[in-house]
Amino acid sequence: MIEKIKALLQEVEAFRAETHEQVEAFRVRMLSKKGIIPSLFQDFKGVDPALRKEVGQHLNDLKDRATEKVNQIKDLLDQASGPKDGQEHPDLSMPADFAPLGSRHPISITRNRINGIFERIGFVVSEGPEMEDDWHNFSALNFPEEHPARDMQDTFFFGKNPDLALRTHTSSVQVRVMESQKPPIRTISPGRVFRNEAISARAHCIFHQVEGLYIDKGVSFADMRQTLLYFAREMFGEKTQIRLRPSFFPFTEPSAEMDVSCNICGGPGCPICKYSGWIEVMGCGMVDPNVLKNCGIDPEVYSGYAFGMGIERIAMNIFQVRDLRMYFENDLRFLRQFKSAL
Ligand code: PHE
Repeated sequence: MIEKIKALLQEVEAFRAETHEQVEAFRVRMLSKKGIIPSLFQDFKGVDPALRKEVGQHLNDLKDRATEKVNQIKDLLDQASGPKDGQEHPDLSMPADFAPLGSRHPISITRNRINGIFERIGFVVSEGPEMEDDWHNFSALNFPEEHPARDMQDTFFFGKNPDLALRTHTSSVQVRVMESQKPPIRTISPGRVFRNEAISARAHCIFHQVEGLYIDKGVSFADMRQTLLYFAREMFGEKTQIRLRPSFFPFTEPSAEMDVSCNICGGPGCPICKYSGWIEVMGCGMVDPNVLKNCGIDPEVYSGYAFGMGIERIAMNIFQVRDLRMYFENDLRFLRQFKSAL
């Protein structure tokens, strides 16, 4: 039997073919169910047990080699024959298909502009996790235990765990920066934030913020005002005026709400500014000494200011988008309009 197998192996090695039909005929003769090799496996059952190991090895080799040979020759024939029947040879001089160009999302465009304005005066971007613990989102920021913002109404908690929630603002990132860096600190934290609010044309439960923080020796309210005026003019045009109205945030004292003069009507009033001539754009204030202390910074030595704005609102203003829900719907007719914006 071994002699027979060896002879067949030689035949396999010597086999050549020029057409697929020839290879197929060879395959059928050697390897198909009723072919030579499977019938040898049948005969193998009667082989003397003392010879089995050796015969078995030769037989397996023969089968492997024959299978390999058939595949090899098929591949070679495929390569040599080029495109299959019915297919044309490619025309290499044909112009390429145009891949449709995407565009940046209006929220990204606005965020990049805001970042750029602050980066030009030395602020660096910092980022942090969207899932936060109570300390970074609330406690370190001087939120009293019973503050309504911790209420289930505003915050998305994780299951029943009162210590883990989706961040409600990116002030949490600033706590992380203050804990890990020494002043002077100049940072902006852009990012996605989450609040359990009813979705409408002016509000969404997911939105984006850029918050800023500046801490050094002798930083004053006047420094903040001038920086924010610079920002407003870069963002909305050089004629823009700002006004600061007293407000309240647990983490700043004093606190203010900053309005910019309406960039649409320039003052007299229009539907965008609700006929007031002013548009509210951000909260701001001097960092509360308690917050500095909580983050390991000595409030006797250092002072600072912080501010925070919603990107959606600002983008609505500069692109005149009337309904904030459009940002989240991924309607290409809406998104394509921003192609030339950046
Ligand atoms: N964190 C505030 C908010 O989310 C914004 C803010 C930041 C206000 C810094 C004052 C100072 O609404």
